Amino acid sequence: MTTRHSVTFSDDDHPAVQVPPGKVLSEDLDVKNSPVLFGCRTGICGTCVVEVVEGGDKLTPPDEDEQEILELYADGVQNARLACQIDVQADLVLRAHCEDRWDG
Ligand code: FES
Repeated sequence: MTTRHSVTFSDDDHPAVQVPPGKVLSEDLDVKNSPVLFGCRTGICGTCVVEVVEGGDKLTPPDEDEQEILELYADGVQNARLACQIDVQADLVLRAHCEDRWDG
């Protein structure tokens, strides 16, 4: 049985963070251990948008409220999620939001 899931950041030098299963990602990530920035931590501001590069198929799909925010801040980005709404159920590889990267 896995006691922790590994959260890795693509295109970044931060080491992987080990997160207990079922924990909301925003509880374990901060500016010191990840490239993901957080604002409200309640799914409203869109600051924490990430692309789930691997492991997204093991996550609970975004609910209607998260979908609305993703349409505003990450429209057209495949596998985009709000990191503050991710309930960690598997090892994940994330790419932090970067306007320049996603603008084309
Ligand atoms: S921190 Fe505001 S939406 Fe995630």
